Amino acid sequence: MRIFLDTANVNQIKQAAKLGIVSGVTTNPSLVSKEGLGDYKAVVQQICAIIPGPVSAEVLVEEAEPMIEQAREIAGWAPNVVIKIPTTAAGLEAISVLSKENVRTNMTLCFSLNQAILGALAGATYISPFVGRLDDIGHNGMELVKDMVDVFTHYQLPAQVIAASIRHPQHCVAAAKAGAHIATVPYNVLMQMIQHPLTDIGIARFASDWQKVSSRSV
Ligand code: E4P
Repeated sequence: MRIFLDTANVNQIKQAAKLGIVSGVTTNPSLVSKEGLGDYKAVVQQICAIIPGPVSAEVLVEEAEPMIEQAREIAGWAPNVVIKIPTTAAGLEAISVLSKENVRTNMTLCFSLNQAILGALAGATYISPFVGRLDDIGHNGMELVKDMVDVFTHYQLPAQVIAASIRHPQHCVAAAKAGAHIATVPYNVLMQMIQHPLTDIGIARFASDWQKVSSRSV
């Protein structure tokens, strides 16, 4: 499973990039607006320059024709940009057109296997089931991830599953076990994935034992 960072915060992306384990970034209009950034294009281009892998930037219109036009424009912002398109009839139309033009897409706001199958048939490069938001309404978001992986594998559909709306490290564990190709994680969850209390205790113990022997040898 690959790890994408789910943020539009450039500082977080720079910090995470140093770890060498982030292979892409996903943004959405809420994440961009949270940063209070005025120039959408400039932000996306900045992120694309930091992370050479796929960077998802979302279209901001709802009708098919303007969506396709906007997607073509965004696709020209950087070679690694991926166009995030919502799971609607207009979105499916746009994905079908764009996939034939070799524009990579990430079908977002996916909440059911039916939606996922249609996105894969339309030619979406990535499909993002929103695990946390399904959990929020009492569904099992990770079951959708597993079902998508099983069905795409069975029918040899090339769409890659991005487990999205990840809220905590156990979501990442479950996404990996479910076979998700990618988990897109907020920065704080990425930091939590690194942490283990036994690692901290082990480091402290090694340091104190080392200090004992090094102080004896002086
Ligand atoms: C994914 O591409 C979305 O940007 C994101 O994961 C949504 O997460 P949320 O449900 O926590 O807003």
